[in-house]
Amino acid sequence: MRAVLASRNAHKARELERLLPGWRIDVLAADDYPPETGATYYENASGKALFARGRAPAEAWALGEDSGIEVDGLGGGPGVTSSRSAAGDEVGWLLGALDGVEDEGRRARYVSELVAIGPDGKELRGTGTLSGRIAHGSSGSEGFGFDPVFVPDGEERTVAELGDEWKARHSHRASAARELLRQTG
Ligand code: IMP
Repeated sequence: MRAVLASRNAHKARELERLLPGWRIDVLAADDYPPETGATYYENASGKALFARGRAPAEAWALGEDSGIEVDGLGGGPGVTSSRSAAGDEVGWLLGALDGVEDEGRRARYVSELVAIGPDGKELRGTGTLSGRIAHGSSGSEGFGFDPVFVPDGEERTVAELGDEWKARHSHRASAARELLRQTG
């Protein structure tokens, strides 16, 4: 199965390819991505999928994914505005925003919403979360974004230390992909 993902994030495409066995995922080459101004992850993910649908080859699936991090000490933010809030320095921004915040305030979850639109216009959708806490310092080199400071529940190490294999089994994106795959029969 061939799919085209509307994202500037090549990490996401590689993660998704691993999570959707048998799918070949190409990143859509476009300079004019629509702004991510939706009120929900779903709105943004389906906006990206529709954008890809209009540009993907007719026989390919079009994929859109939107994700974010919700931190208790930030009132559940930055959530759907995560990419804009952190502006390319996820780790520095989050450690700064949580300066002086302890314990319960450092509880957090990743959320991923995945939307696929088929050649016939059929829409599939999957949602996943991963709960954990924000560490006081950064460690590890795998993954991307907030992974060097995100310690999943039941683990002592960050996602960036646990690595890509771990992420492929347990991440928010892995759960969303599993839900989507169940619908493909
Ligand atoms: P977007 O889905 O491309 O809008 O990205 C949302 C924000 O969440 C970006 O700052 C990403 O770096 C971050 N993010 C999304 N998924 C992950 C992940 O799996 N690990 C770490 N950061 C993530």
